[in-house]
Amino acid sequence: MILIVVWPQTPLSPVPYWPYWPRASQVTFLYAHTYMTVNLDDVRARAARRRQALDPLLPPARRAGSSPAAGPAGTVQCGAPLVVSRNGRPIAVGSCEHWAGQPGSLELSWGAARRYQLTASVADAGVAEALDELLSRWRDHLAGLPGSADEDTAAVVDWPSRDVDGIAALLRHGLAPLEVLAVRSTPPRTGRSPSASVTPNGHAPRRAPRIDSRIDSRIGIRRAGPADAETVARLGLELIRFDTRFGTINERPDTLDALRREAIALLAGPEPWTWLAERDGEATGLLAAQRPEAAGWITRMAAPLPAAYLSLTFVQPGQRSGGVGAALADEFHAAIDAADLQLTLLHHEQLNPLSAPFWHRQGYRPLWTTWQATPARAIRLPTDRRDRRRPPPTTTASHHHRLPPPPPPTTTANHLPPPPPTSASAVGRDVIFHDHLRHLAIGRHSATALLYARTQ
Ligand SMILES: CC(C)(COP(=O)(O)OP(=O)(O)OC[C@H]1O[C@@H](n2cnc3c(N)ncnc32)[C@H](O)[C@@H]1OP(=O)(O)O)[C@@H](O)C(=O)NCCC(=O)NCCS
Repeated sequence: MILIVVWPQTPLSPVPYWPYWPRASQVTFLYAHTYMTVNLDDVRARAARRRQALDPLLPPARRAGSSPAAGPAGTVQCGAPLVVSRNGRPIAVGSCEHWAGQPGSLELSWGAARRYQLTASVADAGVAEALDELLSRWRDHLAGLPGSADEDTAAVVDWPSRDVDGIAALLRHGLAPLEVLAVRSTPPRTGRSPSASVTPNGHAPRRAPRIDSRIDSRIGIRRAGPADAETVARLGLELIRFDTRFGTINERPDTLDALRREAIALLAGPEPWTWLAERDGEATGLLAAQRPEAAGWITRMAAPLPAAYLSLTFVQPGQRSGGVGAALADEFHAAIDAADLQLTLLHHEQLNPLSAPFWHRQGYRPLWTTWQATPARAIRLPTDRRDRRRPPPTTTASHHHRLPPPPPPTTTANHLPPPPPTSASAVGRDVIFHDHLRHLAIGRHSATALLYARTQ
């Protein structure tokens, strides 16, 4: 899909919602007698190549022209067009999603009730500056949204953990690194996998399960079944209560009910990947994981290799540091090896002093870091930017073209503007339907935004 946008002449304008933006492969901005065409697919592909050079376990670019993967239920593609260019060359694009938790859903316990999520694709060297600019534009967008200052909201950015050049920009905007998506990779056991062109590094060694001779002999570990749903839900609740200290996770009034539903689903199939540690018949530890067929919502964050997601791990306080957690992890990793899966993912709270070292010992390392500001409007402009913000795409580029002066701006919503300006000939005959017409009144400035779309 190609978009043509008549851009408001002021660089500080809030942007309207353009639902087509996330699906667009190319966008042409018409503004101030000039236009600039941004090939979004190209920027995303360059950004993905740059990321993969830093960390081969990150995902490749999505296929040119394809839609972004659907977010969790309650996600709306906001479509704020966020572009940064340098010397006329687009170097970063962002897309923003708005998510509102559905009452009763477990997802509500894993973070704020309303989340604004930026997907940032930064293509070239100069990452710090480009991300800085992109975050400033996103911050302007969030500042204009009603409700973004509400307490139970968050601005969220997933940033590759090894893309360390972006960290300063994230910190400058008041975002905090609160959560990690960690990965453990093992080499394929047989032959080459369909995606073996991706060369995972940091393989964890295969090892026999340590069903641990060293753990307390009164502790047994067994696979959970449907009759254990209540136990799994209650241990899951204890995990959530433990993790509420670290900045993202919340116990909600119906968290336990949501965990019960989740546990019933987890335990419904044959040989669920859920194990309990028991001492004298009492459950003292839990590990629960999603098989690859249920984990697609998160495994798209990693290289396209067979992958599972470890969702819950908890050991009762009195039983910790005795090897129970490691024994549960060994059971799980034995199942992973038997299924010949190459990747396992899990989230842990960055500030949880027990989980990060524990998972590192189990062969996990950071893949993505989740940066957050709560409430969402707490994301800020760095002090040195507050008074000198830059315009949207620069007009100095060699491939910017002089255009005839535009018609005088219309100022009322009832006054329709003239037909598409001649500048639309940049993609002229491709404009096959007039999809949207919006009038923006922005402070002292009025502008008309026209959005035309064509389906290729
Ligand atoms: C993280 C957690 C699951 C680990 O469980 P655990 O049973 O304490 O883990 P282990 O005992 O296997 O390993 C912890 C330590 O005990 C040591 N240990 C002691 N006896 C051991 C034995 N017999 N075998 C293996 N390790 C042993 C380990 O080497 C490890 O050492 P370390 O602290 O230097 O890393 C547990 O601390 C917990 O439930 N924390 C609260 C909830 C939480 O953080 N969950 C993870 C969310 S992602």
